Amino acid sequence: MTVVHTFTQLHDEPIDHNGSLGWPLIGETPDFLRAGQNGEPHKFIRERMDKHDSRVFKTSLLGEPMAVFCGQETSSCLATRISWSPLVTATGDEAKRMRRMLMTFLNPDALRSYVERMEIVTQQHISTHWDGSRTKSLLYYNRVNYKGKEEVRVFPIVKLYTFELACRLFTSIDDPSHISKLAAQFNVFLKGVIDLPINLPGTTFYHAMRAANAIREELQVIATQRRVDLEEKKASPKQDLLSHLLATADASGKFLTEMEIIDNILLLLFAGHDTTRSAITLLMRYLGDLPQVYEKVLKEQIDIAMSKEPGELLQWEDIQKMRYSWSVVSEVMRLSPPASGAFREALTDITYAGYTIPRGWKLYWSTGSTQRDQTFFQNPEEFDASRFEGAGPTSYSYVPFGGGPRMCPGQEFARLQILVFLHNMVKRFRWDLLIPDENFGYNPMLAPSKGLPIRLRPHKFEA
Ligand code: HEM
Repeated sequence: MTVVHTFTQLHDEPIDHNGSLGWPLIGETPDFLRAGQNGEPHKFIRERMDKHDSRVFKTSLLGEPMAVFCGQETSSCLATRISWSPLVTATGDEAKRMRRMLMTFLNPDALRSYVERMEIVTQQHISTHWDGSRTKSLLYYNRVNYKGKEEVRVFPIVKLYTFELACRLFTSIDDPSHISKLAAQFNVFLKGVIDLPINLPGTTFYHAMRAANAIREELQVIATQRRVDLEEKKASPKQDLLSHLLATADASGKFLTEMEIIDNILLLLFAGHDTTRSAITLLMRYLGDLPQVYEKVLKEQIDIAMSKEPGELLQWEDIQKMRYSWSVVSEVMRLSPPASGAFREALTDITYAGYTIPRGWKLYWSTGSTQRDQTFFQNPEEFDASRFEGAGPTSYSYVPFGGGPRMCPGQEFARLQILVFLHNMVKRFRWDLLIPDENFGYNPMLAPSKGLPIRLRPHKFEA
């Protein structure tokens, strides 16, 4: 007979029976955040899996009682996510409608047309910020111990890159000072994304909400001007995401409201740059640490570069040839997922692993604990890119982009951006890690505590 426990009933049972709600109000938030800051949220989860139940347990995080899902299928079975954007909070048909609109901008057919633009931005970025002879403006900010000309901190520079690319491709904001101003507001906003939601003057959350409103106001000015430009045919409906959302109606002829458009662009600027920044920084770290893997990536990228005319830009077909490189990126994201998981809310009662989780409960699923599960990955702690050859890992065991109907819609965009960057970096540089055992922590994405200082070694290859 299957026993179905309910989490509400468990409140009345001994506190360590299937989880603990911890302290009043703060619950287990400090332990959870501390584990994340040490880059080991899976340890917070593993300890409780061992103590309570390996599939699901209860806790209290960020002011809410919460069910934490640990198994393979968890990311596919949960209900809506908790957040501040209409795409993310929308459910059912509304969520599908918004997602369809975004996917027409993010699907592989549309992405084909961005490859050249992405590479132009990437090459300009590398020449400006990584090439030692031209990086004067960033000298004091990003350089460490300026002895030779090629010692840099990866994390802050990659942020400039991913944010600039998102601004340029989503909104056509090209002016560097405008991009820097938005980037500063985003930093404040990001700090409050994972924090206790106490909206009182002085709290991180309060500042984050103010920063989000300031960004919204900026985007509103741009959107209003763009609507005029579109009407006067001074802008193209395919120019960027903003034009696309303003000019495209859904199947029933309905357009998104201006607020929905602004919130979705805010969401994509947020979701589309900090995660990718983390992934690229981690990739640089692993390649700096594993020279034999770097050499294989370099060989693949040089073969592609040699197959092209001098100066010819990458095409979609070139990206498809980067198989080994993508396996390496995938293994990096298995061992060190940029996002530690996602929060959601049960819209109806959910039965999972013999427990009923009542409607309204908050839910959390964890990337790291699933991706290090030895049921699915032999020697899970070992770096082995060949896991991704052939059919690759079983469904829902590899979830850096989530899974199921709410899976990350930007995964192809991210793949393109990471591979275009990788191609251009390895063609020009090898690098050494200056702090080989540097700590990485979640804040809210996985980030190096000292910014990942490296010594760049330019090499001779030029296509
Ligand atoms: C390496 C880079 C990235 C990683 C690791 C990543 C990871 C994730 C994860 C784990 C989720 C939650 C999925 C779930 O709950 O099932 C998510 C959602 C999302 N991501 Fe990404 N992401 C990345 C890049 C991007 C990019 C480049 C974009 C946009 C261009 C993007 C847009 C979004 C959006 C809009 C959502 C919310 C989807 C929804 O609610 O339906 N992401 N991402």
